[in-house]
This record gives sequence, C-alpha cells and structure tokens, in this order.
Amino acid sequence: MERTVLITGATRGIGRELAKQLTELGFRVFATGRDVELLESLKAEAGCLGAVADLSDPEQVVGLYAQAKKVLGTVDVLVNNAGLNHIKAPVVEIGLDDWELQYAVNLRAPFLLSREALRDMAERKRGHILNVISTIAKTSSPNYSIYTTMKYGLMGFTQCLIKEARETNVKVTAVYPGGTDTDFRPEVRPEYLRAESAAKMIVHCITAPDDVVVHDLTYRPLVESNF
Ligand SMILES: NC(=O)c1ccc[n+]([C@@H]2O[C@H](COP(=O)([O-])OP(=O)(O)OC[C@H]3O[C@@H](n4cnc5c(N)ncnc54)[C@H](OP(=O)(O)O)[C@@H]3O)[C@@H](O)[C@H]2O)c1
Repeated sequence: MERTVLITGATRGIGRELAKQLTELGFRVFATGRDVELLESLKAEAGCLGAVADLSDPEQVVGLYAQAKKVLGTVDVLVNNAGLNHIKAPVVEIGLDDWELQYAVNLRAPFLLSREALRDMAERKRGHILNVISTIAKTSSPNYSIYTTMKYGLMGFTQCLIKEARETNVKVTAVYPGGTDTDFRPEVRPEYLRAESAAKMIVHCITAPDDVVVHDLTYRPLVESNF
C-alpha cells in the first residue's frame, strides 16, 4: 500500500537521506527545508515532492502541514526532523535571539506540526508522528545549554504525545540519534554515524508491522560514551 510522508529538514543530512530511502521504498514524500537549490536537487534526484518553508515562522509551519496534505491527499507519516544548534557557548554569552531561534525551530515547530498532524490523523484513526530529538536529551554538556533545553523540551512533549495519541490509534515515536556526520556542525566527524545509517534506523520504525509502535529509538556511534 502506498504511504505518504512529510519530512522537515529534508534538504540536508538525516532528513535528506530519509527522503531518498522512503521514496525508494515507494512512499510519496513531501520534503521541506529553506534552501531552494538543495530542495530542487533532492526533488530531481529522489523523485519526491516538496516546498520551502522557514520553520522559525509559526504561520509557515501551520501552512506547511496544510500544503503537504493538499498535495499528498493524506499525510500518513510526519517526521519532525529539522533542527539546529547554531551556537556552542557558555550561558553568559548567549543572546535572547539565539534562545528564540532554537525555541522556534527545535521546539515550537515540532509542537505545531504534531498538533496539526494529530488533529488530522485522529479523524482517520491512523498515522505516525516521529520527533527527532537527540541523545543530548539523555545527558548534558557545557556550552550546549539552549540546544539541550529545547531537546529536553521536545522529549517531554513527545512523551505526553505518546500517551494522548494512543487512544486515537496514532503511533508516536521519540527518536534519539547520537552524533551523526552531517552539516549540523562545521567540522567533519567520520567516526560518527553516517546520515544514511541514521536515516535507516528511522525507516525501520516507519516500516514496522502495523501492530507494533516503537515509542523510543535510541542509537549512537560506538565512539559516543557520554551516557
Ligand atoms: N548531526 C547530529 O550529530 C545529530 C545528533 C542528534 C540529533 N540530531 C538532530 O537530527 C536532526 C537532523 O540533523 P542533521 O544532522 O541532519 O542536521 P543538518 O544536516 O544540519 O540538517 C538540518 C536540516 O534542518 C533544516 N532547518 C534548519 N533550520 C530550519 C528552519 N528555520 N526552517 C526550516 N528548516 C530548517 C535545514 O534546512 P535548510 O538548510 O534548507 O534550511 C536542514 O535540512 C536535527 O533535529 C538534529 O537536532 C543531529
């Protein structure tokens, strides 16, 4: 059976690989990010659909779900994958703008998209929402305070969503990847997970049998030991 999926943060890294792998499996994918050229190259390469949206703008976030639904017909799966950690600095050096940006993209956008998806999926008593968090939500690290705060927030939100969605028959998964070698950080980290591998683990959750819901998926590169 053909299935449809909306993936945020699909222009790069884990989301881009996920879009490619799911399209290959026969899913109809609606991909999104901000970078027009990267999105167009993904659409051409993978044969998927998509549109640009800036998830720091709440109106664009809500509009994105409606647009994906219109194009796909139904949204069977939502993957809240977009995220950023644009500043690694001690608390005393962090500005309000830094806080607001990470709040908007890493926490508010997945909340709004999950809300739109649950309203929609609950009516059909079918669907799957996956929130990409991070293993940082299982530990803490100096100079990562705002990123850690937003990911802890997304973890708490997702745990509540798991319980609220259960009675609607909608699956919810909290995904905790460890360090992955993507554009997420400026330096190359070949010892970390490859984006293809990180995406493959998410594909396993999405393609699990109908009678299975994976609530928590935690995976790390072997070099990661801060837990
Ligand atoms: N890489 C890691 O080590 C790691 C570890 C654990 C968890 N994670 C999480 O995994 C997810 C994916 O990370 P990644 O490593 O694949 O990162 P990445 O390669 O940097 O890709 C991030 C994606 O998010 C999108 N994005 C960022 N800001 C956005 C905004 N304002 N509006 C719309 N889209 C926006 C980017 O799109 P544009 O560039 O087109 O705007 C891009 O497609 C994130 O939630 C991250 O926190 C990553």
